[in-house]
Formats: sequence, structure tokens, C-alpha cells
Amino acid sequence: MKKKAVALVLAASMISAALAGCAAAGAPAATEPAAEAVEEEAEAPAEEAEAAPAAEATGKTVGIAMPTQSLERWNRDGSYLKEQFESRGYATELVFSDNKIEQQVKDLENMIADEVDLLVIAAIDGESLSQVLAEAKDAGIPVIAYDRLIMNTDAVSYYVSFDNYTVGTLQGQFVVDQLDLDNVDGPFNIEFTAGDPADNNAGFFFNGAYDVLKPYIEAGKLNVVSGQTQFDQVATAQWNTETAMKRFQNILASYYSDGTVLDVALCSNDSTALGVAQAIETDYAGDNTVLVTGQDGDEANLANIVDGKQTMTVYKAVANEAVATLDLGDALLNGETPDEGLIAASNWDFDCAYDTSSYDNGTGIIPSYLLVPTVVTKDNMVDALVTPGYYTQDDAGYLHPTN
Ligand code: BGC
Repeated sequence: MKKKAVALVLAASMISAALAGCAAAGAPAATEPAAEAVEEEAEAPAEEAEAAPAAEATGKTVGIAMPTQSLERWNRDGSYLKEQFESRGYATELVFSDNKIEQQVKDLENMIADEVDLLVIAAIDGESLSQVLAEAKDAGIPVIAYDRLIMNTDAVSYYVSFDNYTVGTLQGQFVVDQLDLDNVDGPFNIEFTAGDPADNNAGFFFNGAYDVLKPYIEAGKLNVVSGQTQFDQVATAQWNTETAMKRFQNILASYYSDGTVLDVALCSNDSTALGVAQAIETDYAGDNTVLVTGQDGDEANLANIVDGKQTMTVYKAVANEAVATLDLGDALLNGETPDEGLIAASNWDFDCAYDTSSYDNGTGIIPSYLLVPTVVTKDNMVDALVTPGYYTQDDAGYLHPTN
């Protein structure tokens, strides 16, 4: 069986269990759950154990640190990573740190004290882990920055992610195509909502989108009525849905309450798009459909796409991100120094680029494995998400993560 298929079979039943831990299943929460406990090592159900290739125990442990369970995708990432490493004979410690920086530092300290053999980390704040990762380095524990680059530490060996800049360009190009900006003068009105400044990815997403749209803004085909075009003006702390909603309600009240038409809400991801779509639904005076972008394919956002409240999302198959991380981590734990050759040697059934120029974390370039994101709309969601087995579709047309 191809590795992606294996990943799906192994992890599918874990996802719904993990998502049940969210504040509201299927709807990313606007606020954090009261407490986010370290996920206990769960015994795999019998049928999963049967599906897993018989792996000899390696005697090694992989520490997996995810930011939070309150945003849907990290539940998926955590489950997939855990299942992947366990399928190859590694024990795992999986923690979610409630989007709290000090908590993540503490969780990492605990895993270092537990003498894990490898750390896979999606940082809450990319700038805040230098000290704790110096401890990991002293202890000889290799570190993979997962999805988000960890800054200002030479303890990070590799970075695995999607091509973050491309995520943004896909959103920007989608707007260009939908509005036919190369042939139509408009002008159209657009507002931007970006991500968390503490997340190194957020700037890549915003810049990717803005670089595509800038020529049309300069040509007067797109107007940013609020004038908010700088990343710092449009950023959303912690990618929080409610924060994005409140900022957008203010924008609508300040700039669009006089009948000015809003054509596009460019949102960097789904948690922010959820808040922006909510603001549009309750606070926008116009009756046109606003084009809303997103990223991740969260269940609530896919429902919004079906309902016409969001127009697209950029989907990143995190099951494949976990597969790439497993093969990279496995190579590291076997004393290898992986490079571009890992891609061919691993026989992945998904595209991945080895990049040694884009991601400088302040101590030098971090070699990166970058997977390829996909645009998902109402028209292609079945082909892109249901056919490959990531989601099922119910009779009403809504999509649900596979279980
Ligand atoms: C991830 C996105 C996600 C965002 C908020 C980013 O680092 O790449 O997929 O939407 O964090 O969790």
C-alpha cells in the first residue's frame, strides 16, 4: 500500500477522537478550552494495530509538540505524527500546549528530561524557544521544526512544511481569476486579514497574497478602502477567530456602513476566515456575495464553502506532512544527514521540494522539505478531498474528516 494510504488508514480513527476534544466538534472555537491536558498515550484499537505494518520496537521515543487543540488542524497533525512514528516502532510523547508559550517551553523541558530521542515541534511563538532548544542541543536531541520555522536557534536541524509563500500566492491568484482582473477594470474593494505575528508562516502567507495583488492595487483595479495594507495592521494574534471577527466588524462599521460594496475578504487561513465570514453575515450592509479566502480545509469552513459563506480554502494534506516528517526523523535517528535524496529514496506519492534557500531562521538557512498546497472550492472539493479519502460527504453535501 502507498504510504499516504497507510497514513490515512492508520490515523483516520484517531482524528475524530482528537477532534472530540475541541470546544465544539467541527467548529473551531473562538476561545481556548479551559485546560489542555497532555494527551495520554492511548492504546491503539485492535483494528489499527492490524492495519499497521509490523514494526519492531526501536526503543526510541519521539517527542511531538503541537501548539493547541483549539485549532482543528493541529489535532490532525498530532494524531498523524503519533501514528506514523508508532507505525515504525517508535514510542511517542504527544503534547498540546494550549497556545501558551511558557506551557510549550515547560512541555519541551519535560520531554528533554524524559530523554526523548527526537523532537518534532510546531512552535507557538517561533522566537521563544532558543533557550529550551539549547538544552535539547546539549542533550544531543535533534529537532525538526514542523510546519512553522523556529527562529534564532541553531538547534533546529530541518524544517518540514508546505510551501507557505505559495499558499498566499494561490489565494491572491484566486482573487485575480475570480474577478478577471486582467480583463476588467473594476474597481473592486478588498480587505486583508493575516495571521499571528509570532508565527513565522504568517508573513509568508500574507506576502505571497499581497505580491500577487499589489500590481492590481497599484493600477487602481483593487481598492483597500480601510487603507490597511501592512502586515502589522491586518495581523491576528494567535490566529484567533473572535479577534478576526471583531476587527472585521470594526472595518465594516468604519468603512462600509455607507453602502460601500465589499468584494473580497482575503483571509490567510480558515480560523480567521471563520470570524470574518461571521462578521460579514451579521454586520455587512451589502447584499452581494463577498469572496472570502482561507487555508486548511477545517470542517466548519468547508461547510461555509458549501453554504456560500466562504469561497475557497487552500488545503494542505497534513497526513503527507506527517509521512515526510517520519521519513526525515527516521533518517536522522539512524545517524544519516538527509538531503534532497530523501525524497526519491522515500518513494512518496506526493510532491515535495527540497529547499536550501528560503528559510533562514537567523542562524542560517534551515534545509526544508516543502509540500505542495491545493486550492479547494465548492466545485472541486469532492475530487480534492473526498476521493483521496481525507473527508467523507454527507447527504446534505457537507464534508467531515474521515473516520
Ligand atoms: C499553519 C496554518 C494554520 C495556522 C493557524 C500556521 O502556522 O501553517 O495551516 O492555519 O498556523 O493554526
